[in-house]
Amino acid sequence: MAGKLKIGVLASGRGSNLQAIIDAVEAGQVQAQLAVVISNKADAPALERARTHGAPALFLDPKPFAGRPDAREAYDRGVLDALRKHDVELVLLAGYMKIVTPVLIDAYRNRMMNIHPSLLPTFPGLEVQKKAIEWGVKISGCTVHFVTEGVDEGPIIIQAAVPVKDDDTPETLAARILIEEHRIFPRAVQLYAEGRLRVEGRRVVCTGASPAGGSLVVP
Ligand code: GAR
Repeated sequence: MAGKLKIGVLASGRGSNLQAIIDAVEAGQVQAQLAVVISNKADAPALERARTHGAPALFLDPKPFAGRPDAREAYDRGVLDALRKHDVELVLLAGYMKIVTPVLIDAYRNRMMNIHPSLLPTFPGLEVQKKAIEWGVKISGCTVHFVTEGVDEGPIIIQAAVPVKDDDTPETLAARILIEEHRIFPRAVQLYAEGRLRVEGRRVVCTGASPAGGSLVVP
């Protein structure tokens, strides 16, 4: 495994995106090593998925910091320590339902990716599949972007689109989007591992040829 990109994943729940990364790593489609998975939830299934893969899985409890004015920063210092201890080079927010602070953002500038279930910059935040249906958009999708100080605002690496159907519920739309999430997140990691992502201001330029394909995935 020596020489492979070391990734650290922060996840709060189910961990299906983590699983997609694990599967891609195990299949040799992503040249990376899962160095550590960290969760702010003790019972996050993501932790079990990491253990099954044989990767270190850490629960870091935010409760001891509650009430402090710098609660988020203090928590992130603990996360940063753990990431550094495991020599993490690229951080993935995979269903991580906690706002990250400059403590992590500065340490991993252009080295931390988030997956979000909408076509950003539309519908940042939470419950976005419900918001997309209520707004009446005909196309939604998902976005992988680098993490900056603005929530869901960082430079966009890759997006995939799906149709929104008249009879969609937030759950059916979320399921359709999730299939694409599982495709584009590993792809973004592999592009990073290949050194093909260059950030130019707000834009991420992907160098080299993109593989041909008829689906609506960019790049
Ligand atoms: C995914 O749909 C991800 O895009 C979303 O949470 C879900 C996590 O699923 N993330 C956000 O909404 C972040 N704002 P998973 O735990 O099965 O990967």
